[in-house]
Amino acid sequence: MTKIEYLDLGIQPIANEYVTPGQDKAELFFHLAMGVDDETGMSSLMHVVDSRTVYTDTYAYHSSGSKTMRDHFAAAAKELQDKWNPKTVLEIGSNDGVFLKNFTKSHSIHSIVGVEPCANFAKITEKMDICTFNYFWNEETAVYATDYTGDKFDLVYSANCICHIPDLVETFDAVKSILSESGVFVFEDPTLLDMFKNGSYDQVYVEHVHMFTVCALSRILNKCGLEIIDIEHLDVHGGSNRITVGHLGEHAVNLEAVAGAKTNEIVAGLDLATETFQAKALINANANENAYYAFGRRVMDSRDNLVIKLLELRGDGKRVISYGATAKSTTVFNYCNIGPDMIESIIDNTPSKQGKLSPGMGIPIIAPGDGIKSYIDVAFLGAWNFEKEICKKEAKFLDRGGSFITHVPYVREIAINVKC
Ligand code: TMP
Repeated sequence: MTKIEYLDLGIQPIANEYVTPGQDKAELFFHLAMGVDDETGMSSLMHVVDSRTVYTDTYAYHSSGSKTMRDHFAAAAKELQDKWNPKTVLEIGSNDGVFLKNFTKSHSIHSIVGVEPCANFAKITEKMDICTFNYFWNEETAVYATDYTGDKFDLVYSANCICHIPDLVETFDAVKSILSESGVFVFEDPTLLDMFKNGSYDQVYVEHVHMFTVCALSRILNKCGLEIIDIEHLDVHGGSNRITVGHLGEHAVNLEAVAGAKTNEIVAGLDLATETFQAKALINANANENAYYAFGRRVMDSRDNLVIKLLELRGDGKRVISYGATAKSTTVFNYCNIGPDMIESIIDNTPSKQGKLSPGMGIPIIAPGDGIKSYIDVAFLGAWNFEKEICKKEAKFLDRGGSFITHVPYVREIAINVKC
């Protein structure tokens, strides 16, 4: 197994590790680069930071931070409950309970279990009366969970978490060990195909250890005695797949969805592994047409265009902020070397991020207050994946002539005369 590097985003900090002004603790930096595995075809970080350094008791990301995601998880819970009628539910990476709080114990649901390594969030769901194991997901935690319920699980769910776990084989083996015979494992994460289509290289940060393709996932899941039985493409988080998995041979497979998703990836040139299982040879032989290298070049163009745009704005005396202190914007600012001289502050509605500085570049993070201040001309959309929600919330800013800029899918301006 060899990983072939195709994207180098330079030296980067831990994306969600916001800095307290004057803190003694030095920031940790690492080399952020992506490669593709020549056996499985999986895209993963070239250098993985120990999970215990990333998911600490002060972990800042709240899944409930946007209406879009609160609505999304409420709808997901209802849909999955209606479809699978589970008696036992477990979520891997339960965060602040935004998904599990939609389940209520009743005669039909007797166990609702969360697994969450960050103690600050595990405490929140414990208070909501959800049994929460404050551990990383692995085979040991799987045993604790089944010992607790005395039963296997009919629904194992995970959102924006499986792609954070370095060892996928251990992860899937652990899921298999707790899945009831007809149980399903449903997980959703951003996709490599969407990242390539959108030029959204900022999906790559310390937590996104993998960017999934259906082709690569299928291979790894099959090795673990599991198979993909359905796939639904979702708009959230810049384009994600909700993947439903069962024990191998246990369920009918929605061939149209599964084969269709694989075909889309193959057509886009993402599945090097199906062609030769020799990514290295292919990348080197066809560097010019290769989708992976083409993406790498597009990312460099995106960086240059964004920096030029910000320099122009500064030259015109415009005041620029960023909207949403996202892990994604940590990647953009550090890769493009954008600091407080170009973006004066970042507004974010997460109380634990406010008063802190953005990782690496030290841009102050402030509360949104009543919205973007009247003296601000332009806001970079750090949370571009919530473009609609933010444009709606900040309609007054747009009405008075303010504009947003984003680099997705290319560097562009969003103003009142441009439809959001
Ligand atoms: P995410 O893109 O990783 O989900 O992060 C979104 C961040 O943006 C999170 O810190 C919450 C913040 N946010 C706001 O501050 N205001 C908003 O209106 C929205 C939608 C998000």
